[in-house]
Amino acid sequence: MKCPCSFAGLLFFIASSALAAGEPFVANYDESKVPDYTLPDLLLTNYGEPVSDAAGWIQRRRPEVLRLFETYMYGQAPGRPENMSFDVKSVDKDALGGKAVRKEISVRFTADPGGPSMDILLYLPRPAEKRVPVFLGLNFYGNHSIHPDPGITLSQQWMRDNKDLGVENNRATEASRGVQSSRWPVEAILKRGYGLATVYYGDIDPDFDDGFQNGVHPLFYREGQTKPLADEWGSIGAWAWGLSRVMDYLQTDADVDATRVAVMGHSRLGKTSLWAGAQDERFALVISNNSGCGGAALSRRRFGETVGRINTAFPHWFCDNFVQFNDREDKLPVDQHMLIALIAPRPVYVASAEEDRWADPRGEFLAALAADPVYRLLGTDGMAAKTMPELNAPITGTIGYHIRPGKHDVTEYDWQRYMDFADRHLGH
Ligand code: GCU
Repeated sequence: MKCPCSFAGLLFFIASSALAAGEPFVANYDESKVPDYTLPDLLLTNYGEPVSDAAGWIQRRRPEVLRLFETYMYGQAPGRPENMSFDVKSVDKDALGGKAVRKEISVRFTADPGGPSMDILLYLPRPAEKRVPVFLGLNFYGNHSIHPDPGITLSQQWMRDNKDLGVENNRATEASRGVQSSRWPVEAILKRGYGLATVYYGDIDPDFDDGFQNGVHPLFYREGQTKPLADEWGSIGAWAWGLSRVMDYLQTDADVDATRVAVMGHSRLGKTSLWAGAQDERFALVISNNSGCGGAALSRRRFGETVGRINTAFPHWFCDNFVQFNDREDKLPVDQHMLIALIAPRPVYVASAEEDRWADPRGEFLAALAADPVYRLLGTDGMAAKTMPELNAPITGTIGYHIRPGKHDVTEYDWQRYMDFADRHLGH
């Protein structure tokens, strides 16, 4: 930068600073330009003490790592609200032409019957053994978007406009029924003996930056508080919290085996499923589909989306402390291999798509691989590969991984692999 020691110099300084501030983001997609980096050591405590056994991880290092993610990235979240209640709105024992039981359950977060709530859609296979394992995932466009089943209640919540998906004036229309069904192969899931639970993520917190006035955040403000503190939850934290509240319900449903719930999410909701699974050990299995930056991908690689870019485009997703690491990834006390390690010894599956370079497929694989020492310390087989596999060649140890051809999406192929993985690890 030229020294602003003359008037012309001063003008140049101002103009070039403005340019620097407003420079368009250019993602790096060149592997040879990935900077050298050193990942924080999973098995060294904040005080520099090595962790060499399962007890050391569980009692000392794991709580530290969890706290680092809470403080610097996703923010701390409250627990289960005291006056939360479940209202089973409908049960259809003959849904989907007799293939399923369909339930809709409202979860009320406060004692006020008109207060904030979220709606769970639950499909269970028919006929079923007494209690069935369940896949749980948040959806992007309302419960009614996952299947054309006319019995699903149309969401009334705020939604991002998308004419192609039948969302106008920020509201779902009848035209949006089933528009996301390619991402939710309900019949195939039921056929393999699993139930499926889903909630519209906007029930928990609408996905736009309103300074946390809507959604669940204000329910927990202390006297005089108007927004979360720098180390308190953003939207991803709230969505993950919502998944735990669904789990609270599933534990009360006699048709569900709540010890075998797999939490799954795509993209921003894949970041969310990882964070939910990391915090809440009731989730027996965790799946990240194309979760990318802030999910399974290593931040330090700065390949595709970066910390600075995600915090700028989506300022409400993470806690405010995370902004300190914009363009300073090496200063982060965590990286995403540590998020995956928090799930150990429970099975975790990370999935990438070849054309989804924005999410850094290699960075997703490397994070899963770098979590392996903790999985092994806890007595599992960890990740059964040392190098990134070919396309469509899933790795199915306790850490699962695949990369398939194609774009950023959830496909039937992805789901079939998740069900194979669940069959294997949930003993179904
Ligand atoms: C954007 C964002 C990603 C996110 C994705 C999604 O592309 O940059 O971080 O995963 O949206 O949620 O679809």
